Amino acid sequence: MFSIKTKIIFGRTENEISDLNLKGNGLLCTRRHNDLKFDGLNLYNLKISPEPTVDDLYRYFDEVRDLNFDYVLAVGGGSVLDTAKILSVMASDTKVEDLIGNNKVKSRAKTIVAIPTTHGSGSEVTKYAVLKFQNLKQTVVSENIVPDYALIDENLAMNLPAELTLHTSIDAFCHNIEAYFSKISEPLTDLNCENGMKFFFDGIDEAMENKISGRRKMLVCSVLGGIAITNLRTNLIHALSHVIGAEKNVSHGLANALFLRGYLKFYKGDEKFKNLCKILNVDIIKRTDEIYEKYNTKRLSDFVSQSDIKHIAEKTYENKRLLNVMKREISKENIVKIIEEAM
Ligand SMILES: [Fe+2]
Repeated sequence: MFSIKTKIIFGRTENEISDLNLKGNGLLCTRRHNDLKFDGLNLYNLKISPEPTVDDLYRYFDEVRDLNFDYVLAVGGGSVLDTAKILSVMASDTKVEDLIGNNKVKSRAKTIVAIPTTHGSGSEVTKYAVLKFQNLKQTVVSENIVPDYALIDENLAMNLPAELTLHTSIDAFCHNIEAYFSKISEPLTDLNCENGMKFFFDGIDEAMENKISGRRKMLVCSVLGGIAITNLRTNLIHALSHVIGAEKNVSHGLANALFLRGYLKFYKGDEKFKNLCKILNVDIIKRTDEIYEKYNTKRLSDFVSQSDIKHIAEKTYENKRLLNVMKREISKENIVKIIEEAM
């Protein structure tokens, strides 16, 4: 199945927002972008901190519960968007921990408008919201938190620091390639992912040079990646990165970047991988190596030691929800090999 529930709009935020006809009280969730002008909207600005926890959600809800807001306007990176999506479905008696997992959100009453300022998570179009609970990265998965509108404005992604630019872009690339190598992929999802990856290779250097054309290409890659994973979910790279993200506090994009090259090698001999290189007209492994060398990305050994490898492999192997959708079956030994290659 291939579906897109979100209306996706490209344009300047200040211009496009008025066409959405938002009525009543709005909750504006931001971290930094509170200088944007939303003329005519009645907004309460809630500041969101990075990497939300279940306790943060309760704290935020306490702050805004009396506002009786009608819609949520989220302007920020993945954490801001994810937090806003959960807040939009909370009521006074909601237990946030009970929303974690598949289809636990029973209803939806508020409009969600998502405006990404980074180009990685794709949260502006997904049914996912990640939060930390009991020292694990846990995911709320529900159609009821899919944003109604995604407003894509590349001006908001200008001046992202270089490291964040690289890592969020690689996160978006990973969404596309993992979905591409899902055993439940279909012709339309393949087309979506091929284009996402094309935008990545075309635009990564321009984005690293902070050119607006590059920011736009990375945002397109990110939106396509979001559409891909909301239809097909991620798999091995994210299963690995969830473990080191939670246990070693490695940021999401960087964690994915550490494992991407091992994943590419794992699929190197696959006919679909060879065809993908032809479709994109890129030697994917060579080009990826060039990107890593040029931008000097970190190694896994900067965060974990050799003695951690077995534990990371075991924890990753437990994530059957993600690993079971892989096109090529993976063993624990294969996972150890991919971790070793990332060291
Ligand atoms: Fe991701």
